[in-house]
Amino acid sequence: MSKQTVLLLGATGGTGSSILKGLLENREFFDTEALVQPSSADKPTVQKLAERGVKIRVADIGGPLDALVKTLTGIDVLISAIGATAQLAQIQLATAAKEAGVKRFVPCGFITVTPPGGVMALRDDKEVVYQHIWKLALPYTIIDVGYWHQISFPTVPSGRVDYASLINPNVKIHADGNIPTMLTDLRDIGRFVSLIIRDPRTLNQFVVTYSDVLSEHEIFNLMEEMSGENIGRKYVSADEVEASRARFGAIIRAEPNNAMARMQSFSADYNFSKYVRGDNTPTYAAYLGYLDARELYPDFQPRRFKEFVAELLDGKAEKLYMR
Ligand SMILES: NC(=O)c1ccc[n+]([C@@H]2O[C@H](COP(=O)([O-])OP(=O)(O)OC[C@H]3O[C@@H](n4cnc5c(N)ncnc54)[C@H](OP(=O)(O)O)[C@@H]3O)[C@@H](O)[C@H]2O)c1
Repeated sequence: MSKQTVLLLGATGGTGSSILKGLLENREFFDTEALVQPSSADKPTVQKLAERGVKIRVADIGGPLDALVKTLTGIDVLISAIGATAQLAQIQLATAAKEAGVKRFVPCGFITVTPPGGVMALRDDKEVVYQHIWKLALPYTIIDVGYWHQISFPTVPSGRVDYASLINPNVKIHADGNIPTMLTDLRDIGRFVSLIIRDPRTLNQFVVTYSDVLSEHEIFNLMEEMSGENIGRKYVSADEVEASRARFGAIIRAEPNNAMARMQSFSADYNFSKYVRGDNTPTYAAYLGYLDARELYPDFQPRRFKEFVAELLDGKAEKLYMR
């Protein structure tokens, strides 16, 4: 197969940085470019992309369609890792991709496995984009990744992992804590993506990646064993998870621009899907028709959650969203 020209939207973001790294590590397969919005074109983070040899295409994905089609012309694979609250901006992007003859669109999936239809508002926004893609008959691959290692660990009493935790303290167990959930190390998302997008078997398919399938109790037990510390577990019942979804859902219906409530609502939805419904498992992914990246690429060794915990306890994990 000749080299593919890949255009990545979101190359400076959490998911997108991982994807960019995966693509740049595979220069023999990909010419990688970044799609950047005009208001970000002069940001130091974007200049750093150019220094890494990434060609920048500047475009307003909400601007005139003709200009966007021109921007996407010549692209083989378009990947979007747009932020959680901007999913619907991908509608016009998909329309333009179809007109430009993009051979594969990877819209922004990259979440846990969950069904559409009222379980997670974020998944439902993505569904609107997916249905638009299907109406266009645009070639696609949807990639979901479980939950990142980097946001799946509890804090310990000594405070030694606080440096890498987005929430301090983070000691909550949801429902009975025994429901397994798929995890992928953020750094492996790009490595998986670079395998998936050059694989004809994944065209017009959903694919799921994961390194481990662990319950919250298993994660807490591992942290206790490896740190030698006892974690005081705080239980949040299934009813409390549902009440929290209802509360934040009502706030964002009344105040759609309340960014904090939206993030809390996303988080409550994740807890409901992962720990109350138990959606984020390989079995349910197979039921929904996902291809399993572990079966597609049996030689690929994802970073295991235990390896991540060892780095975390050594003070070597990265703090997220520090760009
Ligand atoms: N599975 C998990 O555990 C997990 C965890 C976190 C996130 N996620 C999911 O991963 C996906 C990406 O989220 P993230 O947190 O990685 O995103 P993020 O860090 O907020 O980054 C978003 C990226 O999109 C770019 N962007 C936003 N609007 C744009 C536009 N109109 N045109 C061009 N670029 C634009 C941003 O660039 P600018 O600098 O120009 O804004 C940035 O590079 C979401 O679906 C999210 O829900 C999953």
